[in-house]
Amino acid sequence: MAQSTQAAPVTSTEHPVLSIERLSVTLPGGAAARPVLDHVSLTVHAGQTVGLVGESGSGKSVTCRAALGLFPARAHLDGSVRVAGRDVLTMTRGERRRMRARDAAMVFQDPRSSINPLRTVGDFLTEALRTHDRLTRGAATTAAAELLAAVGLRDPRTALRRYPHEFSGGMLQRVMIAAALAGEPRLLLADEPTTALDMSIQAEVIALLARLRAERDLGLLFVTHDLDLAGAICDRIYVMYAGRIVEHRPAADLFRSPRHPYTAALLASRPRLDRAADRLDAVRGRPLGLDESVPGCGFAPRCDGATDACLRGSVPLTAIGDEPSAPGQVACLHPAEVAAR
Ligand SMILES: Nc1ncnc2c1ncn2[C@@H]1O[C@H](COP(=O)(O)OP(=O)(O)OP(=O)(O)O)[C@@H](O)[C@H]1O
Ligand SMILES: [Mg+2]
Repeated sequence: MAQSTQAAPVTSTEHPVLSIERLSVTLPGGAAARPVLDHVSLTVHAGQTVGLVGESGSGKSVTCRAALGLFPARAHLDGSVRVAGRDVLTMTRGERRRMRARDAAMVFQDPRSSINPLRTVGDFLTEALRTHDRLTRGAATTAAAELLAAVGLRDPRTALRRYPHEFSGGMLQRVMIAAALAGEPRLLLADEPTTALDMSIQAEVIALLARLRAERDLGLLFVTHDLDLAGAICDRIYVMYAGRIVEHRPAADLFRSPRHPYTAALLASRPRLDRAADRLDAVRGRPLGLDESVPGCGFAPRCDGATDACLRGSVPLTAIGDEPSAPGQVACLHPAEVAAR
């Protein structure tokens, strides 16, 4: 099930392309009872595909956007965000603008909402290219056609003259991926890039991202609520719940033996061909809203194995001992019980 793709070997002297450390994001004015992000740490190395999964509202997009230095207005920030070793939170606006796309670029869920429908794809791409390099119009057009060819568009020169409505959703998402590559970034952030697409098109776009990741030695942060998809393409998976990372493991380990009850519940609730639909175990209860906080584990109110300590005490991320080569962490007081279930 979880076949992780082969990542480039990680050398210890190299900066991770993305390193988020103990990042907390709190909305101003007591608008929320708990932080949007609560001490989130996450690392992506060059050549690696890292998955970020969790329920709606768990904080995946806020984490992803943090890598570009984009945060909710007036939010209070704590911790650090480094892209290719450079601190994003202390950058000037100009530095941040240059960092976006040069070092890190993002692909969003719905391509149509991120492109001007009144301008041709060629104008869109050449503008993206000319903000990065001082290219002449002719050179930018050639580079744009090369980018479209790289993302698998057959007749790139003709495609440049077309408008967004002339493309299918899948083709337009390829155009958006081409635009993200314009500045030759080291880090590609993909926030549910295939959720708006048909299943067969989804697979093509995923295959494209995997190929580009390998060819260009990109670090890819792949946000999805689809655990199977994450398992199929990611080397490592981070599971988020209510603004916290509750478990992160090499993908194969996570599928083989989840240690957090939320991960276990997600795995049990996947529709599978070999199980009748009426046997699906939906995760009972509902996610913790931003207006709710529990002192201990955010998942405890939904957890069958929760004890008093889970509800009241702090539940830190702790190393999982039996994986010394590619260590994982879990934020659960009873991981052995989860593993034994
Ligand atoms: N700009 C903002 N201002 C106020 N609250 C925000 C802002 N952005 C996100 N939030 C809140 O932060 C929480 C996390 O949001 P986020 O968009 O990261 O969730 P998500 O995991 O990406 O969910 P989904 O799967 O639905 O995309 C949510 O409660 C959301 O309402
Ligand atoms: Mg989101």
